[in-house]
Amino acid sequence: SEILEELSGRIVIVGSGLAGLMTALTLAPEPTVIVTRAALGGETSSAWAQGGIAASMGDDDSAALHLADTLAAGDGLCDLKVAASIVAEAPAAIAALERAGVQFDRNGAGVLSLGLEAAHSRRRIVHAKGDGSGAAIVRALTEAVARAPSIRVLEGYEARRLLLDGDHIAGLLCATEKGTIILPSCRVVLATGGIGGLYEATTNPVGNFGQGIALAARAGAFLADMEFVQFHPTALDSRRRPLALVSEAVRGEGALLVNENNERFMAEVDGAELAARDVVARAISAEIARGGRVFLDAREALGNRFAARFPVIDALCGEAGVDPSRDLIPVRPAVHYHMGGVATDENGRSSVPGLWVVGEAASTGLHGANRLASNSLLEAAVMGMRAAHDIAGIDAGPTRLLHDHARLVAPDPSLVRPVVSRHLGVLRNAGAIHGAIAALLPLFDSEGPAADPALVALLIAVFASLRRESRGAHARTDFPLKLQHVQRRMMRLSDALDIA
Ligand code: SIN
Repeated sequence: SEILEELSGRIVIVGSGLAGLMTALTLAPEPTVIVTRAALGGETSSAWAQGGIAASMGDDDSAALHLADTLAAGDGLCDLKVAASIVAEAPAAIAALERAGVQFDRNGAGVLSLGLEAAHSRRRIVHAKGDGSGAAIVRALTEAVARAPSIRVLEGYEARRLLLDGDHIAGLLCATEKGTIILPSCRVVLATGGIGGLYEATTNPVGNFGQGIALAARAGAFLADMEFVQFHPTALDSRRRPLALVSEAVRGEGALLVNENNERFMAEVDGAELAARDVVARAISAEIARGGRVFLDAREALGNRFAARFPVIDALCGEAGVDPSRDLIPVRPAVHYHMGGVATDENGRSSVPGLWVVGEAASTGLHGANRLASNSLLEAAVMGMRAAHDIAGIDAGPTRLLHDHARLVAPDPSLVRPVVSRHLGVLRNAGAIHGAIAALLPLFDSEGPAADPALVALLIAVFASLRRESRGAHARTDFPLKLQHVQRRMMRLSDALDIA
């Protein structure tokens, strides 16, 4: 592999969604390099976020109320201290994003307009360009990165292995069109996003299948709460892959869920259409499992106002031949977010010295067993800033090394997807989970293209096998109840393989 000496010693940030961009911008003018598989900000879930960022900015709101909603959605598994501190920083994160050039939607009097989403007790979703929040945020931040001379960007570089010197991070091995290269650095930040690409039906970019988790796991990092995979209840049910999202904010404006008999099957449930995401996803799955179909009816609540409030969703529906002002919108659950990930502390530090993980790839404890809507962009922004402050206080140290023996094959999750989709979906049981483990082990052992995706899927399966209860997004038909004493679980890859 070629060693990129000219960039040696820079802080390496892998990924260019909100978390990675915020890390780099907060670190500036400290020299950094962003490594990104596609174009800067190009293939990131952040840019597809519709709802916005949860922040207690309204007169009737407070960080305490935001915390209470976060803990309730998290179903007993949030880290109280982490959750309290992140939601308290939400208004500061909004201000930092505005300073970086993001323009959030405001009413005629200049006051932030706040949306409502499921399981929030107040209107607190700060948004931009209606339902184009993520795209507007990522656009503003990529422009800010382009103006920052301290940030180098390597586009078309795929991170393949972390290199270690003893137990300390020493560099990153990347694949490019021209071959492999090594970036020597003892400070690496993974901001690689989620795992939706492990599943056949996802709202994430299909290229996101947990690469950051695979990198960190192979380097010996502790992983946390890997079994918790969130299904968004209302992806647009069309042939498009990945599936288009129909934001919870649509239900926040009063749209109703109905089945093919025009029955409101959520009406009797606590919270009705705006119950927590895991509850709504299971209810919709149950309707579909008995052969039915599910629709969102926005005709009365929004009617002709739909396109103005939700221009992105209106266009996505239009591509599928649906006009939300007149038609029912067909919806189904799809994998949307991973609460689990690389275990980090409140500053994004993993258990491997020199390795920080921020955004969806990390598990800080904010989300518990089920993430509250629009807490994801919040966490990405806050943790990007915190990791940057933490790293800035750490000496670069000498960079030594470096030999790599990794056999590099381009990862390909296509053999893993059917296994994960079938066995690790909305409802799970011991038979299915063990079926997944049996199918994944040989794919992982092969060290072929399926190895890294299989590694991430194996971790999900092993964690799922150990949680013999139903909580948040982890629903087991063989253990339908919640245990009284509950704990987050943390393990290394080696522990998980022993169990598998
Ligand atoms: C949505 O707009 O429904 C998605 C928001 C989120 O995933 O937090």
